Order: sequence, then C-alpha cells, then structure tokens
Amino acid sequence: MRTTTFQSFGAPESVVSLDEQASPPLTPGHVRVRLLAAPINPADINYIQGVYGVKPELPATPGMEGCGEVMESTSPMISTGNRVIFLKRGGLWQEEVVAAAEDLIVVPTEIDPMQACMLGINPLTALLMLENFRPLAEGECIIQNAANSNVGRCLIQIAKKRGITTINTVRRSELFQELEEFGADHVFVDDSDLKKHVRNVELNPALAINCVGGDSGLRQISLLAEEGVQVTYGAMSKQAIKVPNGAMIFKRLRLEGFWVTKWLESNERSVVQAAYQKLAEMVVAGELTQAIDTIYPLSSITEALAHAQQEQRSGKILLQMEG
Ligand SMILES: NC(=O)c1ccc[n+]([C@@H]2O[C@H](COP(=O)([O-])OP(=O)(O)OC[C@H]3O[C@@H](n4cnc5c(N)ncnc54)[C@H](OP(=O)(O)O)[C@@H]3O)[C@@H](O)[C@H]2O)c1
Repeated sequence: MRTTTFQSFGAPESVVSLDEQASPPLTPGHVRVRLLAAPINPADINYIQGVYGVKPELPATPGMEGCGEVMESTSPMISTGNRVIFLKRGGLWQEEVVAAAEDLIVVPTEIDPMQACMLGINPLTALLMLENFRPLAEGECIIQNAANSNVGRCLIQIAKKRGITTINTVRRSELFQELEEFGADHVFVDDSDLKKHVRNVELNPALAINCVGGDSGLRQISLLAEEGVQVTYGAMSKQAIKVPNGAMIFKRLRLEGFWVTKWLESNERSVVQAAYQKLAEMVVAGELTQAIDTIYPLSSITEALAHAQQEQRSGKILLQMEG
C-alpha cells in the first residue's frame, strides 16, 4: 500500500515523501480501514514542521483526521462496510490503517466522504466553543475572526441553527457574499474601522472566538460586552494576544483557550459519540458544509502540501487516497 512519511521536521513539501509499504497485520480488537479522503489542516502543517502541541517520534506518517471504509473487523463494535472517522491523531495520509475499534466513530454510510473526512476536528471545535464557555440564549450575539476558515464556516452554520447572531470578520471584502450565503448575519473587514461598523449595527457580543491573535484579538476585546468571554483556539497571525488592563478590570472579561485534542482525551466516549452524531446528522441534512478548494490524489502530495500553505484559498485542500 502507499503511505506518506517524514524523517525529519521541516518544510512539509520538502520533508514528506510517498512510499510503498506492506499492509499492517490485523490484530484482535482491531479494524482494517481503507482510507477514502483526508484534509490538510493548519495543524498537520505545524505537526510536520515540529511546532504543534504534540511531536511524533520519527519517522512518522502525517494526517490528523480522515474518513474511511471498514474492510475487515475483529470487533463486535464495528462491521465491514461501516464508514468511520478517527479519534486518534496522526497517521492517516495513507491508503490503509489498522486501528483499535474504540478509536473509531461510525458515521452514516450515506455521508459524503469528502465532508466526513473533515468532521473530526473543525465542526466539533466550533460546536464546543459555542456550547461550553458562555451560555447563549437565542438572539444573543457572538463575534469571530478568520470567519472564512472552515472552523469559522461551521460556527456560522451551527449558530444560525440556534438563532444566535454572528458578527464575522475577514481579511477580504470579496468573501462577504459567500459567507452571507452560508448564514452569516454580519460580515466586516477586520481592520481599524471594525469598531465603527459593529457600533452601527448596535450589537454587543457576549462571546468572541479568536483564531488570529494580535490586533485582531484586541479589536474583539474592545467590542465584547461586560463580562464577555474571549476563547482563543488559533494563532494564525502568530502574534500574541493583547489585553488592555482596563478591559479586564472595568468590563470584567474572561479569557479562555480551547484545544479539541484535550477535550477528546478528557471526555467519555458516549459524550464524544453524541457530539459527532449531532454533527454528522447536520452534514447529511445539508445543514453543515465545509468549503473545499481542491482535491488532490495522494500521488500529488507535494503539490497538495504547497497549495495548503497558500493564503486566500477558497476552502480546504483534500487528499483522495485512490488514484
Ligand atoms: N484549538 C483547536 O482545538 C483547533 C481546532 C481546529 C482548528 N484550530 C486552528 O484554527 C485555525 C483555523 O483552522 P481551519 O482548519 O479552519 O483553517 P482554514 O480553513 O485553513 O483557514 C485558515 C484561515 O486563517 C486565515 N489566515 C491565514 N493566515 C492568516 C494571517 N497571517 N492572519 C490572519 N488570518 C490568517 C485565512 O484567511 P485568508 O483566507 O484570508 O487567507 C483563513 O481564514 C488554525 O490555526 C487551526 O490550527 C484549532
């Protein structure tokens, strides 16, 4: 079978290679899965560069999430033909894997594998940030930056379904219409005029979802309502979060961080399963869609990795394992 590996940390398009290796043996309690598709996420890029929250032993196979079809199973929990996603991170950019049954989540067979391969991380992140930090009643308002990211798009769709108003900030005005079609209530360019635009729509966000940091995160803080909460989950600008002392004292804001990997490690399987079921149902119903820019065959891994690192994409870069 074909697999991808990296022997050293570095620029992904230089260190990741496509190799042939024997299929792994099937062991008791395990399941053989034929991979269908996997996205290239910012976390995969950081993992290969060696700057992610966890570092693998080398050589390693990248691929934090994906979707596959069960070819053989030795577990009563999973049947041949089931469509599955993975709870364990890493090792999915290859044609086949053998995984422990408890590390798999069965998703509906009718789900589009190109959407299912992105179900593991971004939709769950969006759902949990919306549910777990600040109770939000219908009609309340949130603000998020990098709103055209796939996490951002998931947040827009989930919030819409719950009647929560979203203020969305992006770097490019050409995204306004597309995000409004996804269900965004307000979309603004994330620059020094942002405060003026938000004041004009007379909204006071209770929750700020921060993917960028730096000045963008600071603008969110200036717009948060009293006792509002800012949740940081990404650092796309690579700039530290800035927090004025006055905002902490007089507005009594709360700053939080979120990492979905930790949440998955620290929650019961039944809780995790229920969250994924809710999201998978939304995907099948057409209520939750992530944007895809280009689908590359696994054989074009180098080109796909270079493309995934370009800014201003129109969605995710996916790997399709066949072909
Ligand atoms: N903490 C967690 O548990 C968790 C879970 C999922 C994702 N994440 C993180 O969330 C972030 C988004 O992930 P994703 O998969 O949704 O991303 P994505 O779909 O690949 O989108 C990337 C986004 O980042 C923006 N961006 C890129 N470079 C930027 C910069 N220098 N300054 C400001 N914005 C920039 C892009 O804007 P343009 O289109 O204008 O280039 C785009 O909106 C990543 O940092 C990822 O690691 C964290």
